[in-house]
Amino acid sequence: MSEKIIMLADARAPSLPVPDALEAPTGLLSDALARPLHDLRISVTDRCNFRCVYCMPKEVFDKDYAYLPHASLLSFEEITRVAALFVAHGVEKLRLTGGEPLLRKNIEGLIAQLRALRTPSGRPLDLTLTTNGSLLARKAQALKDAGLDRVTVSLDALDDAVFRRMNDVDFAVSDVLDGMAAAHAVGLGPIKVNMVVKGGMNDDQILPMARHFKDTPYILRFIEYMDVGASNGWNMDEVVPSGEVVRRISAEMPLVPVSANYAGETAARWRYQDGQGEIGLISSVTQAFCQDCSRIRLSTEGKLYTCLFATRGHDLRALMREGRSDAELSSAIAQLWRKRADRYSETRTIKTAGLERSGATGQKRIEMSYIGG
Ligand code: GTP
Ligand code: 5AD
Ligand code: SF4
Ligand code: SF4
Repeated sequence: MSEKIIMLADARAPSLPVPDALEAPTGLLSDALARPLHDLRISVTDRCNFRCVYCMPKEVFDKDYAYLPHASLLSFEEITRVAALFVAHGVEKLRLTGGEPLLRKNIEGLIAQLRALRTPSGRPLDLTLTTNGSLLARKAQALKDAGLDRVTVSLDALDDAVFRRMNDVDFAVSDVLDGMAAAHAVGLGPIKVNMVVKGGMNDDQILPMARHFKDTPYILRFIEYMDVGASNGWNMDEVVPSGEVVRRISAEMPLVPVSANYAGETAARWRYQDGQGEIGLISSVTQAFCQDCSRIRLSTEGKLYTCLFATRGHDLRALMREGRSDAELSSAIAQLWRKRADRYSETRTIKTAGLERSGATGQKRIEMSYIGG
């Protein structure tokens, strides 16, 4: 067995303690910084068919990279069980991520199971998925039929040469655009387009992307390149601040700010002054949004992460496979969220000058491909 697997199993999986006094979920949970729990992100695979330079650089994610073995993956039944427990605690939004979630076999089967869940007051959930779009043209109809509400598609450039350099597997822009069109045609909207901006690599694509998606049903969002994971060799010099993105677009197509859709939204919204369409700016480097962060993440192998920049997860799968009851799992989750005090991006903003390549504990941070965006 490889070193990487041992590290995943040991360093990142403290057990999740079950409190002695079990409690029934109330539909409302607050963490140590008074942040409610609203959003569960579920990673369904750590594999991806792209090698985006900012996420899965080829030098690290090569043919020898030790991905999770099949037996480690949560089954769809296990994922649905966890999701139901979170919904009872107040989660209203589920996002499926990867790696590339459409690589997980029969993902539509999982979507159908999650679709059947209801909030304590009987409402259906916001059920969404983040994809690189490569398999979307083929899968859009099945995803819609299974009950998926919408998709968010990653696309880092309009120029083929630049995009191929970013995804590093020679994938063409037109194939992603076709996938988006298929998703739009079957009603998987509103469709958001996520563009990670890496200075010197694709920042010349900011204006072409803005022009292309203006006056379309797609909502383009510019994401500041983050120091997530331990593989991408992040450097502050390669971050293009969102303020600069707005300045460049506004010079040609004036923008005005719009208020957030919901508390804790990752993106700051702007609309074009001439009224046609909106864009979003996700500024976790220059304007951290930890203050209202209501997101928890479930890894492919069933570990819970209370922050994207965490170095360790909490092993829920172990409790499930030990035969613990729903009441025990639910109480363990409640206790974990109540203690949560993570606010990594805010802390990093304060001390970016002296940034180190590791989390607060000095341990290796988890990869974005392992936990999903
Ligand atoms: P909507 O439900 O459509 O509002 O989506 P979202 O913005 O919540 O989710 P999405 O997965 O599209 O997030 C876009 C990007 O924002 C991710 O790919 C990350 O780069 C970044 N991001 C999302 N959540 C977090 C977070 O909790 N912390 C930080 N630092 N970045 C995040
Ligand atoms: N910085 C910002 N966003 C990232 N993503 C992956 N790696 C990074 C990074 N280093 C996000 C992108 C991509 C999604 C799958 O994960 O939004 O679209
Ligand atoms: Fe790129 Fe997303 Fe795959 Fe990472 S998971 S390599 S960002 S497509
Ligand atoms: Fe939430 Fe952590 Fe991201 Fe801050 S850095 S917004 S706490 S996931």
